[in-house]
Amino acid sequence: MSQLEWQDEFETGISVIDSQHKRIIHYINQLHDAERLNDPQLTTEVLINLIDYTLSHFAFEESLMEDAGYRALDIHKRTHDAFREKIKNYQQRHINGEDVTHELFELLNIWLINHIAEDDNSYAPTIRENMPGIDSNEQASWLKQKIQRFFQ
Ligand SMILES: [Fe+2]
Repeated sequence: MSQLEWQDEFETGISVIDSQHKRIIHYINQLHDAERLNDPQLTTEVLINLIDYTLSHFAFEESLMEDAGYRALDIHKRTHDAFREKIKNYQQRHINGEDVTHELFELLNIWLINHIAEDDNSYAPTIRENMPGIDSNEQASWLKQKIQRFFQ
């Protein structure tokens, strides 16, 4: 598989979310490189960053959907839960010394990318409608607080 590139269909129109998704794609590509270079230490580093960042991003998204009063929050959360379970499993297998890079790369490529293009685009209109200032200064303190809470 080749490197992933940002596509228009990933765009949610919420710049804080789009930039987090871009960062996830960046980590997925790093994982791809680590596998190609056959560098186990780099793989471990990228895996830790990727998992950590994705989990923080999910928590951030859930909090955002909650504050915006998104009706299908529970369904979206369950989708995240399923992914968190899968991730835990890969993490454990990696700790046990198994090489899960390729499998994980494929999962991320298919599952996470579909999730961004479809599920995340389902909540985006509610956020844009109920939190119109999300990307403006008006919400700056809200954003700052959330980012501090979930990304540290
Ligand atoms: Fe999501």
